[in-house]
Amino acid sequence: MTGTKDWTDWHRSYADPDSALSQRLRVVRGFLQDWLDERPERPLTVVSACAGQADDLLGVLSQRADASGVRVTLIEYDQRNVDIAAAGAERAGLSVAALCADAGELASYAGAVPADLVLMAGVFGNISDADVRGTIAALPQLCAADATVIWTRTRRDPDLTPQIREWFAAAGFAERAFTAPEEVLFAVGVNQFAGVPQPLPAAGTLFRFLN
Ligand SMILES: C[S@@+](CC[C@H](N)C(=O)[O-])C[C@H]1O[C@@H](n2cnc3c(N)ncnc32)[C@H](O)[C@@H]1O
Repeated sequence: MTGTKDWTDWHRSYADPDSALSQRLRVVRGFLQDWLDERPERPLTVVSACAGQADDLLGVLSQRADASGVRVTLIEYDQRNVDIAAAGAERAGLSVAALCADAGELASYAGAVPADLVLMAGVFGNISDADVRGTIAALPQLCAADATVIWTRTRRDPDLTPQIREWFAAAGFAERAFTAPEEVLFAVGVNQFAGVPQPLPAAGTLFRFLN
């Protein structure tokens, strides 16, 4: 659940192209672009956990002629962000399901998974280390065969990204990319599922959002 932080206001950093957050957004968009370019087949299913205003997905899909074959579900807890994302999708002519729901609850993903791409941007830095580990272990319940997970995490001390990369390997994911620019603290990872997809349980908790 969300606490006291204003998660609509948080998105203001994207207005400054020089912010670290904007830099992170460009990296995520680049990976999304590559992922779509490498998969001409349609349909593709995408789910974004804690999607915010979906600057990442909308920024990429709005520029692509082949976006209509991509089925996108956004799971976001803040209704204002949901509304902004839904309006942005509509302006861009994209058919996107923007759900106001708790992405920490497995039930919120019903009908949206198995997904070919699970986007976890701005999640792992806002949940406990144990929940990061548990969420990664549970990703086979959200992933289709060969699915890709794009994730972000700050490398602020203590840097959890080495363990995160190991947890992905333990959960059956091969690392496709890991970007950690020197001058900033964020990291972005791309991991591809090499295991057998697991059914989505009707209920259960992936994580509790802390901020
Ligand atoms: C750090 S922001 C990331 C937003 C977006 N993914 C991005 O990278 O631009 C975290 C987002 O998670 C949302 N959030 C917080 N708790 C949540 C929950 N339990 N379920 C879904 N979204 C949640 C916040 O409202 C906020 O929009």
